Amino acid sequence: MSDNISISFERDGVDWTRAAEIFEKAPLGTREPDTLRRTFENSDLNCFAWDGDALVGIARALSDGLVQSVIYDLCMLPEYQGKGLGTRMMQGMMERLNTANVVLWAVPGKEGFYARFGFRPMLTAMALVEDPARTASQGYIRL
Ligand SMILES: CC(C)(COP(=O)(O)OP(=O)(O)OC[C@H]1O[C@@H](n2cnc3c(N)ncnc32)[C@H](O)[C@@H]1OP(=O)(O)O)[C@@H](O)C(=O)NCCC(=O)NCCS
Repeated sequence: MSDNISISFERDGVDWTRAAEIFEKAPLGTREPDTLRRTFENSDLNCFAWDGDALVGIARALSDGLVQSVIYDLCMLPEYQGKGLGTRMMQGMMERLNTANVVLWAVPGKEGFYARFGFRPMLTAMALVEDPARTASQGYIRL
């Protein structure tokens, strides 16, 4: 990792094939570059981490601007994990979201990372998902 790390909130210069590689390698699963691009374009806040002009991390959020927001898809390349980039991206997004409540789904095992920002486990969160069996096997829901 160089000392030329930066965080941006604009989509300018984002290569969505590279973003999809980051998503897959993180690993968060697989998403087609065009699907990833459209989900980011349709979101209220985008966040990107760069090493020079190389994209190394991505995240997005939906927000009503006042009361509720939801953070999705925070991930970075494995070789950039554990170096404080996720913290910088979270801090930048939380400042900009500025809503009373923020919700997210932590990847199982990553809850501790979000607890550092004050996130607490939700006791009544429920989700309607495309593939309940798969989502249950990934540790996100109970059937
Ligand atoms: C989860 C992720 C976004 C965190 O970003 P990161 O840049 O690796 O995290 P940071 O380096 O900013 O970590 C900050 C602190 O959180 C701690 N931390 C990281 N993961 C943690 C975990 N699972 N539990 C507890 N603490 C954790 C780190 O030890 C670090 O502590 P320190 O400052 O005392 O050294 C990143 O590792 C990642 O992309 N992981 C793979 C994809 C993923 O799981 N994304 C989350 C989607 S919900």
